[in-house]
Amino acid sequence: MSVVAESPDPPKLDTTVPQTARIWNHLLGGKDNFEVDRAVGDQIIEAMPHLARNARLSRAYLARAVRWLAAEAGLRQFLDIGTGLPTADNTHEVAQAAAPDARIVYVDNDPLVLAHARALLTSSPQGATEYIDADMRNTAAIVKEAKNTIDFDKPVALIMMGILGHIEDDAEAKSIIDGFLQHMPSGSYLAMYDGSDTSPEVTEAVRIWNISANPKYHLRSPERIEALFADLELVEPGVVSVPRWKPDTGATTEEIDQYCAVGRKP
Ligand SMILES: C[S@@+](CC[C@H](N)C(=O)[O-])C[C@H]1O[C@@H](n2cnc3c(N)ncnc32)[C@H](O)[C@@H]1O
Repeated sequence: MSVVAESPDPPKLDTTVPQTARIWNHLLGGKDNFEVDRAVGDQIIEAMPHLARNARLSRAYLARAVRWLAAEAGLRQFLDIGTGLPTADNTHEVAQAAAPDARIVYVDNDPLVLAHARALLTSSPQGATEYIDADMRNTAAIVKEAKNTIDFDKPVALIMMGILGHIEDDAEAKSIIDGFLQHMPSGSYLAMYDGSDTSPEVTEAVRIWNISANPKYHLRSPERIEALFADLELVEPGVVSVPRWKPDTGATTEEIDQYCAVGRKP
């Protein structure tokens, strides 16, 4: 486990201020959250009753994308930025189930995620996992540290699930992505999802989230999400609502307010 340069405004382990990783954990049905997180989470669910389901569908997309990257695209190295609290089907479990030699580096800046990182650091004997406590904006420092586990001369899957919504400005979000991808060779991938501004309910839910939660979250339109992939080759089916990205047989393909894509660096 390692720590790189300080965040501009790092979340502290403060049980009086609701925090994004813990609210998300509550929405996913987890136990790693406090009363303040549950209160905001429940208020959000009132505004948008299906948000907990959306959280689970987004998590299921994470697993499908990581499985596809390992099993179909042949990736063996994963840099997962905005890991979240450990839950079912963490990136290393999914990747190593498909490819036991997969190497995973997790990055988050929430102190509770750091406290639980040991649960993320189990690994198959053939592979490896590492955890870096850092703000995603510190791309160069993260890459430098990740080089202890990941060989940046070989393709890397950059995983940014539910995190770029914490960056309001599109140009800044794109520069963070580029800050990682510039160190990765052709054949590397970006896989992401984020909340989309595709219904009044989700706009209201995020308004409630942003009254008290730290850090704040910003919705993007599917077009703005697509623009983040400007230099990449989109994998089929392109930018879609998360249930529609290579759905498992028989799974729902309803449209929800979370959009995603996987793109390959040419
Ligand atoms: C909505 S959760 C998503 C967790 C997981 N990726 C998933 O899809 O289930 C967003 C995560 O991003 C982390 N995060 C938010 N801003 C961050 C930043 N500036 N640097 C690093 N991590 C950040 C939060 O602590 C939280 O764990």
